[in-house]
Amino acid sequence: MAASAALYSSTVWLTGLSGAGKTSIAEALALRLQDEGRAVYVLDGDRLRHGLNRDLGFAPQDRRENIRRAAEVARLMNDAGLLVIAAFISPYREDRAMAADVIGAERWLEVHVSTPVEVCEARDPKGLYARARAGQLAQFTGITAPYEAPLAAGLTLDTRARTIDASVDELLRFLHLL
Ligand code: PPS
Ligand code: MG
Repeated sequence: MAASAALYSSTVWLTGLSGAGKTSIAEALALRLQDEGRAVYVLDGDRLRHGLNRDLGFAPQDRRENIRRAAEVARLMNDAGLLVIAAFISPYREDRAMAADVIGAERWLEVHVSTPVEVCEARDPKGLYARARAGQLAQFTGITAPYEAPLAAGLTLDTRARTIDASVDELLRFLHLL
């Protein structure tokens, strides 16, 4: 395992729809690296929204502020030598570019968890797509709010064809850790 020291001051940024598999992949990747004694932290949008970002909703300007704060936190963690695995829908290209700027282009690795909306909706692990279809959840990404797919992600993971473990292997290869 020949990981460059720089990797451990970087942020792997997972973007994709709700239900695409971002959190599952981030947590499984973190466990694999922690097992090897690596200092890793998962920054998860859904979780941050219960604490640091609890004042924010899902309007475009709130999502932007959510991503800005997340990027600032990731940068601090990178400065402290942690590998950050960030899992945010981060639906706007412009906001992801802003996050890359905050973190620093040389520390930013963008990964698109590209699971299509029909598959995410069929999974619907939290019942959010059903609520959005019923008109009970406004500005829901993929249904009533946009998702702008990356044009040149470092890596694209389609979870239809792979298990979580296989996605993690793919990510580890991308990071030159496997
Ligand atoms: S964003 O767009 O990057 O600011 O979103 P993020 O911080 O990743 O938070 C996404 C989680 O919020 C829940 N949720 C919604 N997502 C999208 N649109 C709407 N309207 C919404 N309302 C609540 C949902 O559980 C998301 O978690 P994930 O893990 O993506 O499913
Ligand atoms: Mg999640």
